[in-house]
Amino acid sequence: MNRVSAPVVTIDGPVGSGKGTISTRLAARLGWRFLDSGALYRLVAIAALRQGLAGDDHDALAREARDLDCRFEFDGQETRVWLGEEEVTRELRSEPVSLMASRVAAVPAVRAALVQRQRDFRRPPGLVADGRDMGTVIFPDAEVKLFLTASTEARAERRYKQLKAKGERVKLSRLFRDLAARDERDSSREVAPLRPAEDAILIDSTELDIDEVVQKAYVVVHEKLSKD
Ligand code: C5P
Repeated sequence: MNRVSAPVVTIDGPVGSGKGTISTRLAARLGWRFLDSGALYRLVAIAALRQGLAGDDHDALAREARDLDCRFEFDGQETRVWLGEEEVTRELRSEPVSLMASRVAAVPAVRAALVQRQRDFRRPPGLVADGRDMGTVIFPDAEVKLFLTASTEARAERRYKQLKAKGERVKLSRLFRDLAARDERDSSREVAPLRPAEDAILIDSTELDIDEVVQKAYVVVHEKLSKD
């Protein structure tokens, strides 16, 4: 274990694999801090949309990432997010922001600008880090690495229910298409593509409910930490 800083559990996987909910619950159960790394890319996306920046203006996007003025408040259940003085918790998950986030996340200079900011979340008593490259790039020495998957259909349906519950008007077929496009972009980009770390434990959540996955993850973490 990296005792100088703190233990880290990384949870990577595609959108809709359930990792957001699972990471949040696991962090609450362990009493650890929580990093939603996707939120950082989403914040850069909101800042870029506000400024009217184009997805291919790499220098300007990297500047937004470097100068990002944001704040997270995790109350053990949900994370509220601020960009400057403005709360953007709801807007963060909207479809336009999701699409732009996936674009800005493919820009190497944006990713580089966010590396240290993510590592700074690693503080006692421990960190649960949720993302795409947590186990491969940001915390390669993590104590436990999990990689969550689920079929594209299952993931599109989960996302559909989430957005509907929030009162957003969405079409399942459109979500399915957007999600497949985003998967493709996340997996094929040159920098930090979405893939499991070699030492990651794979969990397919298609047929499992959230509680089962959280329990599975908790047991793995508990066993690992009591061995070290
Ligand atoms: O996880 P979430 O859907 O909130 O992430 C938003 C976008 O940020 C994703 O489409 C993905 O492209 C990107 N991302 C990333 N690396 C991470 C977390 C998110 O590239 N560690």
